[in-house]
Amino acid sequence: MFLLKTNNKISLSIVYKNQKFLRIYRWNPLYKKKPWFSIYPLLKNNGPMVLDALIYIKDNLDSTLSFRRSCREGICGSCSMNIEGVNSLACLSPVETKNKFLTIYPLPHMYIIKDLVPDLSNFYNQYKLIKPWLMGSITNDKEYLQSKLDRFQLDGLYECILCACCSASCPSYWWNQDKYLGPAILLQAYRWLTDTRDSNKKTRLKFIDHKMRLFRCHSIMNCSKVCPKNLNPGKAISSIKYQLINKL
Ligand code: SF4
Ligand code: SF4
Ligand code: FES
Repeated sequence: MFLLKTNNKISLSIVYKNQKFLRIYRWNPLYKKKPWFSIYPLLKNNGPMVLDALIYIKDNLDSTLSFRRSCREGICGSCSMNIEGVNSLACLSPVETKNKFLTIYPLPHMYIIKDLVPDLSNFYNQYKLIKPWLMGSITNDKEYLQSKLDRFQLDGLYECILCACCSASCPSYWWNQDKYLGPAILLQAYRWLTDTRDSNKKTRLKFIDHKMRLFRCHSIMNCSKVCPKNLNPGKAISSIKYQLINKL
């Protein structure tokens, strides 16, 4: 048996031999104390995904737990966190572990607002810097037409949901996120460089062509390994470098 403190109530719970637990990183700036782990028993009805278990805990065990979520189907990118050592989306990660504890941290090397909620202000400011919108030369009301082949070039790029799992797994981004744009933003930049309807390619390339903004990427490829949408930001970065080096 063990004591379970939930919403300021203390209750007794039976621990079975094979009982597993969720071990969740907690930090609250108001408490003025170091981060700690909260441990909750993993119940049979906690699942099937990690996000379901977190929602169960918040609704039934501990309403003080904070995390982001919205769509619960891998579309909004809000529930990114580090689950069992891998940056992933909580709503796409099954609540399974071979270990006694399933451990959850916020995205690594980010400032934390509270518990599992990282501060993504820098990330979104960097997104703004690459001007993520279509800049065309057509000024009248005509549609911006694109051939099927041109549209096909955007596959593997437009699907990015800006969850930041890749950037938060990139050692170059960990140490230089004030200057290096990181894999997510560079993949987005490549998406606009690839769009044949955009007429701002030269200015876009000029902005990215910088030893810190782009060339801090050392092709370690952690980014491509973790992307929950199976995208390849490392390849997109290499393609930008190729365009710059060959003056394409
Ligand atoms: S390939 Fe580049 S962007 Fe991706 S993890 Fe490595 S250094 Fe970071
Ligand atoms: S490239 Fe993948 S991991 Fe990176 S932000 Fe986009 S969806 Fe998330
Ligand atoms: S809740 Fe939207 S991606 Fe997980």
